[in-house]
Amino acid sequence: MLEAFDFVIFGGAGDLALRKLVPAFYRAYRNGELPKGTRIIPTCRNTDVVRDYKNKVREAAQKHLRADEFVDADWQAFEEYIFPIFLDIAKKDEKWDEMGALLNGSGNAQRVFYLSTPPSVFSVCSKHLSETGLITPTSRVVVEKPLGYDSASAEEINSQIAEYFDESCIFRIDHYLGKETVQNLLALRFANGMFEHLWDAKTIDHVQITIAETVGLEGRASFYNDAGAMRDMVQNHILQLLCLVAMESPNRLTADRVRAEKLKVLENLRPLTGNSVKINTVRGQFAAGEINGKPVPAYQEELGSTSSTETYVAIRAHIDNSRWANVPFYLRTGKRMKQRFAEIVIQYKDVAHRVYPEAAGKTVPNRLVIRLQPEENIKIVMTTRNLEKQETELRPVVLNFNFADTYKDFQSDAYKRLMLDAAKNDASLFIHRAEVAAAWGWVDPIIEAWARPENNPHFYRAGGWGPQAADELIQSDGRNWFVVDELAAEGDS
Ligand code: BG6
Repeated sequence: MLEAFDFVIFGGAGDLALRKLVPAFYRAYRNGELPKGTRIIPTCRNTDVVRDYKNKVREAAQKHLRADEFVDADWQAFEEYIFPIFLDIAKKDEKWDEMGALLNGSGNAQRVFYLSTPPSVFSVCSKHLSETGLITPTSRVVVEKPLGYDSASAEEINSQIAEYFDESCIFRIDHYLGKETVQNLLALRFANGMFEHLWDAKTIDHVQITIAETVGLEGRASFYNDAGAMRDMVQNHILQLLCLVAMESPNRLTADRVRAEKLKVLENLRPLTGNSVKINTVRGQFAAGEINGKPVPAYQEELGSTSSTETYVAIRAHIDNSRWANVPFYLRTGKRMKQRFAEIVIQYKDVAHRVYPEAAGKTVPNRLVIRLQPEENIKIVMTTRNLEKQETELRPVVLNFNFADTYKDFQSDAYKRLMLDAAKNDASLFIHRAEVAAAWGWVDPIIEAWARPENNPHFYRAGGWGPQAADELIQSDGRNWFVVDELAAEGDS
C-alpha cells in the first residue's frame, strides 16, 4: 500500500513538469492512486510563476489531457495536492530552509526529489539538499535523461549524484519502461510457455525494433542538434527495448535481478567499431517533404544552420551469446517519418519442410508483433487455409489482441507509473548506473566512427520511411523492414 509522500519537482515550471509530470499525478488522483496527504511540490525560479502556477499547470493539463479526462471539479480537488514554491536551485539561501520546514512539517516519511533540470545542476542541487539536511534514509532522487553525452560525461554525472545519494536511492528514468506494453513484454515472455520456449536462435530468424516519429525539433533545436538520434533515442529507449526482448529470465522480478539480466545483454552486444560501423549502421537526416499532406522543411532549415547531426539511425546489431547466436537485431528510429509508431517484431524462421509446395511465395513465416504505440496491441501473423479459394491455397492472417478492447477505461501513462514506483521505492523499471555505462560503452565507438566524412548522414524525404541506405542494409541480408500498412494488406482480422 502506497503511503502519503512528498514529491519535489525541481524545474517545476518546465515543459516536462507542466505537460507530463503534474498531469500524470492528476491521473493518479482520479484513479484513486494518490494517497491523501501527498504533496506535489514544484519549484520555480520566478515568484510570479509561483503565484500563477496553478493556472499555468491547469492550462497545460487542459491542452495535453484527453478532453474527457479533464473534469473541472476533479482538477480543483487535485489542486489541493500542489504546493508550488520559489527556489533558485543554484543559490544556497534561506529558501532551502523554507523548503526544509515544509518537508519536515508534513509527517510524510517518503520523499522523492525529481530533477527535471539540465544535468549541469544535478550536482549543486544534490549538494544543497544534503547541506539542508533533507536527504533522509527514505528519500529518493529521480533523474531524467540526457544522462551524459558519452561515457565520460555520464560517469561524471553519476559520480556527482553518488556523492549524495546511495545507488539504491537513485532512480534513472527512461519513460519507455513505463509504457504498459513494454512491461507486458515481460509478462508475454515469462508468463507464457508458448513464447518462452520459442525465443532463441533455433526458432527466431531476426528481430526488428522501430521507433518512428512524425515530429521534428519541437523547440529543442540546440539540445537535439548536439545530441542527434543516437544519443537521444538509441542509447536509452531502443537499447532498453532490446534488453527486454533479449534478456534471460530473472528468477524474480526484483529491481536487482531484472537490471542484472539487462546489463548482461548490453555487455554481450557485439562491439561496432571502425569499419564495422560503416557496414552495420546508417545515419540519416530528413530533407524537406510532406507529412499528412502538410509541407515540412528540411532539418537544417528548421534548425536555421548547417548541420551533420543525424535524425535517423538504423543498425544491424548482434548479441554474442548462445541464445542469440547469429540472430540479427535490426534497430531503427527517426524523426519526421511517415507515421508515428513504436513496434517490436519477432520474425520466426519458416517451416523446415514444405508440405504445401504450391504455397511457396504466398505465405510468410510466423511473426509476433508487439505494438507499443500509438495503439497497444500484440499480433501474431500466422498461416491458414484460404477459405475463399476452396483449394489448398494458403494465406497469412493476423490474430490481434488489442489492449483497449479488454481494458476499456484504462489510460496508459508512463510517467504516472514511474513516479508512483519511485514513491513506492520500486526501482525495477529504472536504470542502474552500470546499464548507463554499458550502453554508452557500445554507443561511443559508433559515434566516434561517424565523425569520418564517409559516414555523413544520408538524406531522406520527410514523410517517408528513412534513407534508401537503410533499406539496403536489411535487404543485403535478404530481409525487409516491416512497414505499418503491410499487416493490414496481409488480411488483418
Ligand atoms: C524523448 C526524446 O526521450 O522521447 C524525444 O528526447 C522523443 O526526442 C521522445 O520525441 C519520444 O517519446 P514518445 O513516448 O513520444 O515516443
